[in-house]
Amino acid sequence: MYQPSLTDLTEPAKLRVGLIGFGCVGQGFHTILSQLPEAELVVARIAVKTPGKARPLPAEQFEFDAHALVQDPELDVLVEVIDDADEAFQLVSAALRLGRRVVTANKAMLARHLNTLLRLELDYGGTLLYEAAVAGSIPVLRTLDSYFGSEPLLALRGILNGSSNYVLTRMSEEGSDYATALAEAQRLGFAETDPALDMAAFDPRSKAVLLAAHAFGTLVHPERVLNLGIENITPADLEYAAAQGKKIKVIAEIRQAGPGSVSLAVLPRLVDAQSPLYAVEREMNGIELEAAYAGSQFLRGKGAGSFPTGSAVLADVRALQRGQRYEYSKLGADDRPRLAPNLETEVYLRASSAEALEEVAQWLELPAPNGQHFLTGTVRLEALLARRDALREAGVFVAGIGEIQPAALPVASIQEAAVLAA
Ligand SMILES: NC(=O)c1ccc[n+]([C@@H]2O[C@H](COP(=O)([O-])OP(=O)(O)OC[C@H]3O[C@@H](n4cnc5c(N)ncnc54)[C@H](OP(=O)(O)O)[C@@H]3O)[C@@H](O)[C@H]2O)c1
Repeated sequence: MYQPSLTDLTEPAKLRVGLIGFGCVGQGFHTILSQLPEAELVVARIAVKTPGKARPLPAEQFEFDAHALVQDPELDVLVEVIDDADEAFQLVSAALRLGRRVVTANKAMLARHLNTLLRLELDYGGTLLYEAAVAGSIPVLRTLDSYFGSEPLLALRGILNGSSNYVLTRMSEEGSDYATALAEAQRLGFAETDPALDMAAFDPRSKAVLLAAHAFGTLVHPERVLNLGIENITPADLEYAAAQGKKIKVIAEIRQAGPGSVSLAVLPRLVDAQSPLYAVEREMNGIELEAAYAGSQFLRGKGAGSFPTGSAVLADVRALQRGQRYEYSKLGADDRPRLAPNLETEVYLRASSAEALEEVAQWLELPAPNGQHFLTGTVRLEALLARRDALREAGVFVAGIGEIQPAALPVASIQEAAVLAA
């Protein structure tokens, strides 16, 4: 039976938080805290960048040297939610060198520097948590890290970018064109200032890199991962999918590709109604996990926005308060899988003219399109990655229509892929 003790009756000291960044995420976190006075947390200092900017709190609550917060021993936890990945890396790595407890939401910074940050965490005894960086309010990292820490995963598929998903929903449900749907996403505050991060799938690529580390123990630099986006999509592409009873969704997929290897790619794909991702619309995110013993599971929720990300930051701060850290048990395994080379998938490709498509078919060694504006064929992921920017500039839209799998014919040599990438 529960016996109250003296320690239950003494008021616990409030954890002092240093908040770096007071934009969408920082304000969401701050507002949530102000509505939960029992949360045993207090934001003791706030650093921002621009003096004189209008803010919802009195000006004297803001300061402009974030490094001063990193150095302040009176702060128990640092929350880094700024929009500058390079500066975020400087701040977070300096904090970890001091053995501090840090929460960040900066996926681009994390994906690029995960290896270094993990090293600093180990060497100096600090802790870094970053649930908000992957799918906003969806607690996927802690699910992977604690619940699936030992069980092998077979695959993980996710819609991880609310802005591009919003654009796709608007286009398919309301027949909007791409530019109109994107302008609406920006007006509603879903899209990043630089729309390429969302629409060209750089943002979900960073998230997929973080998921690969937690789900499979695979550490990979984001630039090695194929990311294709939707900037060139037209209603004709959605009609092509709809004629087959499918939708186009930008899917980040990580899956076992063979012994000791995983495939990892982010690209628009035709999704059928049996997939739980089919029904993930507008700014929502969704993640399907296929585990070796638990079977299939699906997580769905708000992937961005002030309160959903503020909620994830709060959950991480509370986890730090309880002394929790990621176990990274799969990263510690000797047989952690590598990124598989020599993968292929069947794609649908559409260009604005038959001539443009003819040229693209040559680049990718596909059969000539016979005067059509679109073609389907099997291509290697390395070839798509090497031609990614050229395809985008040529106005080509690419969508996966099959599984990603080991290529039937081996690549002639690794050098061939390197030549393509040059
Ligand atoms: N928005 C989302 O839904 C969402 C979701 C998941 C993850 N994230 C990530 O969370 C981070 C923050 O995003 P956000 O949307 O909140 O950005 P934001 O609205 O643009 O706000 C950025 C904040 O960072 C401050 N800042 C920038 N450089 C700084 C520096 N050197 N020192 C101190 N403060 C600095 C800015 O100061 P000023 O106010 O003075 O300009 C501003 O308050 C990003 O890494 C983003 O990718 C965002």
